[in-house]
Amino acid sequence: MRAVFVTGFGGTEVLRVQETEAPRPGPGQVLIQVAATGVNFADILARQGRYHGGAQPPFIPGLDVAGTITAVGEGVTGLRVGQRVAAFPEGGSYAEQVVADPVLVYPLPDGVDWDTAAAFPTVGVTAYNVLALAGRLTPGETVVVHAAAGGVGTTAVQVARLLGAGRVVGTVGDDAKAGVVRELGADAVINYRREPVADRVLELTDGKGADVILDSVAGELFQQSLRCLAPFGRLVVFGQASGQPGTASSGDFYPRNQALVGYSTGSYRRLRPTALRPAAEKVLNWLAEGRLRLVVSRRYPLVEAAAAQRWIEQRHSTGKVLLVP
Ligand SMILES: NC(=O)c1ccc[n+]([C@@H]2O[C@H](COP(=O)([O-])OP(=O)(O)OC[C@H]3O[C@@H](n4cnc5c(N)ncnc54)[C@H](OP(=O)(O)O)[C@@H]3O)[C@@H](O)[C@H]2O)c1
Repeated sequence: MRAVFVTGFGGTEVLRVQETEAPRPGPGQVLIQVAATGVNFADILARQGRYHGGAQPPFIPGLDVAGTITAVGEGVTGLRVGQRVAAFPEGGSYAEQVVADPVLVYPLPDGVDWDTAAAFPTVGVTAYNVLALAGRLTPGETVVVHAAAGGVGTTAVQVARLLGAGRVVGTVGDDAKAGVVRELGADAVINYRREPVADRVLELTDGKGADVILDSVAGELFQQSLRCLAPFGRLVVFGQASGQPGTASSGDFYPRNQALVGYSTGSYRRLRPTALRPAAEKVLNWLAEGRLRLVVSRRYPLVEAAAAQRWIEQRHSTGKVLLVP
């Protein structure tokens, strides 16, 4: 089969399409013929050697797939050949075939198309968990979603609404991206490269601040988030696309009953994989019912993975970018 390999840490030139032996499902695994795979920001970090717990080259990158089960290993129950599924596979997803552990395989309801299914695992599960699990969002609360035009961002804006948020504010790094976020139902959009985010959030909330802030950018935006977190607010950190960490002191949180909460779907996959299923099933139901729409802005052939990653890395992308074998 063909797969894309990271042949050394570096720029997109280290991505090479190579022939490699197709994986075989071992006991307790299924084999999936890939229909489409998502490109995630984490794939770029992994290629650069900056992903926490990332693999050493050569490796196949990629976190999630949608496809059809073509073989089941010994001892697998509840999944069958021919079934349409989405999954977090073992090893990378930039390949024509992958194997997966059934604990991280999600049968697709009728009506969920391949693009939606391939886009769903990382962004769907992450958007739901940062809001419901880490953010403990309750109905009526104000949510700020940073990088709101991105893959996780476009999903989180909608999931916040579905969970009953009272007000949803998106932030973006480019005015051209604001329209996408507004169309998805955000009440306000702030350009964090041009506007003082904390002042704008305080203005929009009559000085109270936001109850839940989703920060995957960090750096200066984290400092702004600290300044506009409401009393009893939860600041959820789950990435640092800016390349810079945010810094805080314990004294920033206790006087106002605030919480700083970290979240990683990757760590859940490794340490508590079964705990991802409730989020996955909830999101798949919303997708099947048409209540949630994953934004897929571009599809590239698998062999053009380098161009797909450049599109995201250069901050041109909105929503999800997919690769199709
Ligand atoms: N912890 C987890 O479980 C988890 C899971 C999935 C994703 N994540 C994190 O969540 C974030 C979003 O992931 P995604 O895959 O959906 O990507 P994405 O949001 O589609 O793309 C990343 C976005 O980050 C923003 N950004 C800010 N500073 C940047 C910089 N210096 N370089 C490049 N982009 C920058 C850009 O939006 P603007 O142009 O609007 O600034 C860019 O579009 C990433 O930080 C990712 O690592 C974490």
